[in-house]
Amino acid sequence: MENFSFKNPTDIRFGKDKIDGELRDAVTSFGENVLLVYGGQSVKHSGLYERVVKLLDGLNIVELPGIAPNPKIDSVREGQKLVKANNIDVILAVGGGSVIDASKVIGSARYYEGDPWDLVLDSGKRMKIDQLPLIDILTLSATGSEMNRGSVISNPQTNQKFGTGGPNTPSISFLDPTLTYTVPTRQTAAGSMDIMSHLIEQYFDRSENNDVSKGMIEGLMRSVIKWAPVAIKDPDNYDARANLMWTATMALNGIVGLGDVNGWTVHPMEHELSAYYDITHGVGLGILTPRWLKVVAQDSSTHELMARFAKNVWGVDADNVDDAANQAIKETYDWISSLGFEMTLPEVGIKDETNFDAMAQSAVETGNLTEDGYIKLSVNDVKKIYQDSS
Ligand code: NZQ
Ligand code: ZN
Repeated sequence: MENFSFKNPTDIRFGKDKIDGELRDAVTSFGENVLLVYGGQSVKHSGLYERVVKLLDGLNIVELPGIAPNPKIDSVREGQKLVKANNIDVILAVGGGSVIDASKVIGSARYYEGDPWDLVLDSGKRMKIDQLPLIDILTLSATGSEMNRGSVISNPQTNQKFGTGGPNTPSISFLDPTLTYTVPTRQTAAGSMDIMSHLIEQYFDRSENNDVSKGMIEGLMRSVIKWAPVAIKDPDNYDARANLMWTATMALNGIVGLGDVNGWTVHPMEHELSAYYDITHGVGLGILTPRWLKVVAQDSSTHELMARFAKNVWGVDADNVDDAANQAIKETYDWISSLGFEMTLPEVGIKDETNFDAMAQSAVETGNLTEDGYIKLSVNDVKKIYQDSS
């Protein structure tokens, strides 16, 4: 296990109706000038918007609606103007990962005089400046943004989608599983795949004897595998929604990756798909993950871990590691496919190879895949994974 330091101060308020008794005090502990950030129509349709506004009655609320999935830098620019012009004390993000991600960067942009895209390109700049406190009410289980420092912001003008880290995790996160009852099937599936991918990216790691991380990840994987189909079939199942929500948070709040050594691979490859084609993050991960696992299994140095993954996650009892690897990949593919979304690139509108070279080049650079990948990938290797996904 590698050395590490770990601190995550996010105050988690988990459970049904927590906001009713606690939201107002949480917000006013930072001040009365609030930027309320949300996405499209879902919070209005579900009644959550009205509920929140009522709870904050009498405070100075400035609104920033319309944060799109794969949040765009223009929304962050708009938010920067609002937080500066209105002397905002605290940002309240109500939504999924996209709303929370955009809100974090807006919180940094409050203390930056230039274009916030600079902050996305260079997280170092964000680490040197302050960040407004952020409270969120999570409405979709997927990214873990509710308890980490990361954001992913897109710039459609340049076909770029980059991760950026700020100095702070959200100050307070309200995790009420009942607020995810209205998440449509496709988003429940995509969110569950995102959780699974976060776990896979941290599990396939070269750190030796890191049993704490591996064991926690296996337990979390079994939880997503079990509960995602239940939530899809029965959207109002509290246990399913609660397990998915807490698994999402635990999968990417930093804890399960402690002591790891290598970087992530599938995420940099997927971010290129979303950057060029604006597809749903989890759907892209679902297409790429089994194809990447196949490449992993071709390297015999991965077989011991692959066999452990097969046995402890999928319950595969195979005679040899080759069989175990193949069966684990098949189980993974079948589970993803059973969630009901598309399993090839053409099905999500990526019908030719026009951008594969540029996307592969950028994925390798952004993820430093020739050096940091669990198995090292060249530009050609990544292009081949895109081709195998077609
Ligand atoms: O915009 P509205 O109308 O709210 O609808 C949203 C959106 O269309 C809808 N939705 C959310 N909660 C709902 C709901 N619909 C009905 N009922 C509810 N309760 O779901 C759609 C997707 O929302 P979004 O926030 O985009 O989804 P998600 O949470 O999956 O976030 C995806 C973004 O997060 C980034 C992704 O790249 C992507 O841009 N990621 C962020 C990470 C992080 N900060 O740590 C890590 C991840 O790996 C990921 O890259
Ligand atoms: Zn993700």
